[in-house]
Amino acid sequence: MTQIIDGKAFAAKLRQDIKQQTDLLKSQGITPGLAVVLVGEDPASQVYVRNKGKQSIEVGFKSIEHKLDATVSQAELLDLIQQLNQDDSIHGILVQLPVPKHIDDKAVINAIAPEKDVDGFSQLNVGRLNIGEQSLVPCTPLGCTMLLKDYFGGDLTGKNAVVLGRSNIVGKPMAALLLQESCTVTIAHSKTKDIETVCRAADIVVAAVGRPQMVKKSWIGEGAVVIDVGINRIDVDGKTKLVGDVDYDDVFDNAAAITPVPGGVGPMTIACLLYNTLTAAKMQRG
Ligand code: GUN
Repeated sequence: MTQIIDGKAFAAKLRQDIKQQTDLLKSQGITPGLAVVLVGEDPASQVYVRNKGKQSIEVGFKSIEHKLDATVSQAELLDLIQQLNQDDSIHGILVQLPVPKHIDDKAVINAIAPEKDVDGFSQLNVGRLNIGEQSLVPCTPLGCTMLLKDYFGGDLTGKNAVVLGRSNIVGKPMAALLLQESCTVTIAHSKTKDIETVCRAADIVVAAVGRPQMVKKSWIGEGAVVIDVGINRIDVDGKTKLVGDVDYDDVFDNAAAITPVPGGVGPMTIACLLYNTLTAAKMQRG
């Protein structure tokens, strides 16, 4: 029987644990604070930012949102980040991506103080992750790793893991985390030769390519565990449907376990943002 990995339930439990630890921290006089910065009015980003704020409040954090006009200058945005860097009541800073084209996103990300970089996107945190030092780790790959470790009883040693996709936000940090867990890691991407055969040899497949239902049954070896990071909107009979990068129905019988879309990896991302903010608050306590 294929197991459906319930990311929604796992995320709810993680938020409960975070709330308990937050209560404890508050009793010691520290309230974790998360600042989320949104530039412009991208509808998807607005939904994400609203949910981040709402869930921050639910676990007992201080939550602040800065909504800036799409025409804001890079200098003004960098000024705001400096203010937040210096604000002791703020432990985590997140600038929702993408930012408008006239702003250099690298400059913005690297302006965030590394100890407050709860996305884990800054050069220092990326470097730390890749040399196995303690760092703040990108939320989505962190969530995938938690789900995998839970499924495998805490130990991923020696598993053959194939990561589909090489983005800085998911693919690359995912590979680094799996390597840290002593997996044998392959990163496959659009230029990989015979990607289907590469993928079929995996015990663990993490799909993060942004292409609806690309991964078919023939890609998944008998008994593999499939983690689907994709969130794609497609049109089915005139209705919008949310699907992953994996063709769920097609793959289902081959997999030992699989994350659904929605309700798999998605809810883990914000839960891990809260986890990182709590970690950042504890680290800054000294
Ligand atoms: N936009 C899409 N995903 C993310 C993310 O994980 N963090 C930020 N800051 N922006 C995003």
